[in-house]
Parts: sequence; structure tokens; C-alpha cells
Amino acid sequence: MNNSTIGKRRIVMKLSGSIFNITNTNAESIRRYAKMLLEISNTFQPIVVTGGGKIARHYINIARSLGSDEANLDIIGIEVSRLNAKLLISALGEQVYSQVPKNLEEVAIAAASGQIVIAGGLHPGQSTNATSALIAETVKASKFLNATDVDGIYDSDPKKNRNAKLFERITIKECMEILGSESSMAGKYELIDIVALKVIERSRIPTWVLRSNVSNIKHAVNNDFKYHVGTEIVVEPTFK
Ligand code: UTP
Repeated sequence: MNNSTIGKRRIVMKLSGSIFNITNTNAESIRRYAKMLLEISNTFQPIVVTGGGKIARHYINIARSLGSDEANLDIIGIEVSRLNAKLLISALGEQVYSQVPKNLEEVAIAAASGQIVIAGGLHPGQSTNATSALIAETVKASKFLNATDVDGIYDSDPKKNRNAKLFERITIKECMEILGSESSMAGKYELIDIVALKVIERSRIPTWVLRSNVSNIKHAVNNDFKYHVGTEIVVEPTFK
């Protein structure tokens, strides 16, 4: 296999569903992300999870008004996230594992190939954030980057409050307090959820929440923290 990533440290990357939409997504925008992943794969093995984005929410809203139950709505969201995964796979040629893994076992098998892996959602009742944290745990990722459509974690919703303050670092406990009131309805899981935080905590996964664009992600991968904006989620030390 050329340019194999076997033996390289793994980075799990959740790519916001916001980069996949009808109006702004095109061959060029997908190619930019593919090029970034190929560059990163010289040093690390990228394991990517694509979100469902607006298309998922649109379909979920329609199906909800047609009377679908929440579990089925989640499955619709998962299917859309997998469609986005397939789009990204199309841009990665020989370097990518050609299947979209559908559960953690399949993710582990895909990761063992040494190729770049692109997954979508896995199980109903979760967001791709929780899924990505579980994947990071499964593949023993050295880092989990949650690339989203805001600059990081704020003390309140920056889309609603212009004075919201961005945290450079935040503890899991503080994060849980801020996110405590989140929704568990299909299509409405927030930035990072409790399941994701619990997994990050128990496996002490170095995690960053940052805006999804290729330069930001590359800086985060290379630890160029002076260049990228984002929030580091700090796991407090355990005292025994
Ligand atoms: P996401 O909520 O994770 O994608 O999946 P998104 O909205 O694009 O994420 P952001 O905005 O980048 O953070 C869309 C929907 O698919 C279902 C949920 O209903 C979720 O809201 N889903 C996704 C699952 O049920 N399980 C999964 O593992 C992933």
C-alpha cells in the first residue's frame, strides 16, 4: 500500500455537517478537505466522522411532521451523515478505506487497514459528537478534534448572544454545567453532548472544539496553537 498510515498515531476528526449543504458544497470545497486529509496522513492516520448538517435536519423535520418516531428520525440523520461520508470518500482515491463503517467494530477493522477512514453516525440516540468520542476511544486516538461551525465553546450561545465569551480551555465539569440543559431530540443535539464528555473523561482523550476550516484543523493537528482559535477540553487529574 502506498503512503500507508499503518503504525502512525491516529487523529479522530468530527467534521461539522455545516460543510455539507446544498448551497455552498461543491467539488472544490470537498477537494480542499480531501487535500488536507491527505497532507495530514503523511504524519497521522485521520479517522473522520462527517455530520449530517442542514440536509439531515431538513429531512428530519419533514419526517417528524409526517409522524415518524424519534428513533426513525435519528436513523434518517445517520443515513444523511453517511451520504456526506461517501461524498468525502469520493475525493480521496486510493488512500481511503472505501466503505463507510457502520458500527465500532467496523471502525476498528477499517482503522486497521492503515488507510484514511471516513464514517458517519453509528447509533440512534446520539450525535456525531458522541459517536466521534467513542470512535476516538476505540482507535486509541492521540487527539480528538471536534470541528464545528463556531470557534469553540462559549459561556452562552454566540449565535444568540453577541457578548458570549470563548473559552481557551474548559474542564469537563464546566462543560457539563454549560451544556446541562441540552435537547435529546433527533437533529437537535448540541455542540458537544454529555455522552461525548463522559467518554472523553473516562479515556482521557485530548480534545479540542474548533471552527471547521482546513487551515484551523491543520494548525490544531500540528499543535500550532498560536494560529488556531478553539477550546481545549481539559480532563482534570485524578487523585488516588
Ligand atoms: P449530527 O447532529 O451529529 O450532525 O447528526 P450535525 O447536525 O451536522 O452536527 P453538527 O451540527 O456538525 O454538530 C444529525 C442527526 O443524526 C442523528 C441525530 O438525530 C443527529 O441530530 N444521529 C447522528 C444519530 O442518531 N446517531 C449518530 O451516531 C449520529
